[in-house]
Amino acid sequence: MTSDSMNIAGKTAIVTGGTGVLCSQMAIALAKAGANIVIIALGKAQVQKVVKEIESLGVKALGFEADVLNESSLREVREDVLEQLGSIDILVNGAGGNAPKATTSEEQSFFDLSFSAVSDVFALNFLGTFLPSQIFGEVMVQQKEGVIVNISSASSFHPMTRVVAYSAAKAAINNFTEWLAVHMGQEYSPAIRVNAIAPGFFIAEQNHRLLVQPDGEYTERGQKILANTPMARFGEPDDLIGALLWLVSDASRFVTGTVVNVDGGFNAYSGV
Ligand SMILES: NC(=O)c1ccc[n+]([C@@H]2O[C@H](COP(=O)([O-])OP(=O)(O)OC[C@H]3O[C@@H](n4cnc5c(N)ncnc54)[C@H](O)[C@@H]3O)[C@@H](O)[C@H]2O)c1
Repeated sequence: MTSDSMNIAGKTAIVTGGTGVLCSQMAIALAKAGANIVIIALGKAQVQKVVKEIESLGVKALGFEADVLNESSLREVREDVLEQLGSIDILVNGAGGNAPKATTSEEQSFFDLSFSAVSDVFALNFLGTFLPSQIFGEVMVQQKEGVIVNISSASSFHPMTRVVAYSAAKAAINNFTEWLAVHMGQEYSPAIRVNAIAPGFFIAEQNHRLLVQPDGEYTERGQKILANTPMARFGEPDDLIGALLWLVSDASRFVTGTVVNVDGGFNAYSGV
C-alpha cells in the first residue's frame, strides 16, 4: 500500500451539507487532495463562499442551493454535474442536524414534542441520506464504481438523551449504510462501496446551545461528554479528515458497510 492509493485527483466529489461546520472542511480537504467538488446546501451566499474558497485551491467547484429532500432538484443537479464534470465518483452525505422542537427539555416533555418537527428531523437526516444515494448512486452503477460516505453520529449506537428523532435517524443511517453496501456489491459492482463516519462530539451550530452556556462555560451535558471521552476533549473538524480520505480512496478498497467512529474513544467507554 503506497500513498498513491489515497490519490483522488480528478475525481468528482459531491458533498451535501458542504457549507456546514464539519462538511465544509471535508469538502476543502477533498479539494486539497485534488478532487473537483460539488457543494449542495441551503443558503446561496454560504454556498458561493465555500465554492470560491475551493476554486482558489485550483480545482473545479460547482455549488447548488438545493434541498436534499427534493427529488427534482437533485436530478437537475445530477444533469448539470455530469455535463460539466463528466462523472460522480464520491458522495458525502453530510446534510443533517437537529431541531429544538424535536428535543426534550425541562420545558418540553416527550409528550409535547411536535410531530412535524420530529418528522422533519428524521426526514432530513435519514431520507436526506437515502435520496441523494439513490439519485447520485445510479450514476455510480452506470460507471460500475463509486464511493458513498454517510455521516452518522455517536448518538446512533446508544441514543443520547433528549435528541430522540436525531438519534433514531442516525441509527437508521447505520442500518442503511450496511444495507446499501451489500446491495451495491451484490447487485451492481464490488467497486461501489458504502461506509459511514460516526463523529463524536464537535461543537457546532446544531449542538452549541446544548453544550456551551451563554457565558462560554460548558453546560452540565458538555462536561458529562468530556468526562466520557477518554481523549478528554471535543473534536475538531480536522480530526475527521484522515478517516474521510481513507474511505473515499483506494486505500480502503476492501472496506464496505462499516461505520468508523471518530470520537476520541467515546463509544468504547462504558463510563466505569
Ligand atoms: N457537530 C457535531 O458534533 C456532529 C456530531 C455528529 C454528527 N454530526 C453530523 O455531521 C453532519 C454535519 O454537521 P455540521 O455540524 O457540519 O452541520 P451544520 O449544522 O454546520 O451544517 C448543516 C449543513 O446541512 C445543510 N442542510 C441542512 N438542511 C438541508 C437540506 N434540507 N438540504 C440541503 N442541505 C441542507 C446546511 O445548508 C449546512 O450546509 C450532520 O449530518 C450532523 O448531523 C455532527
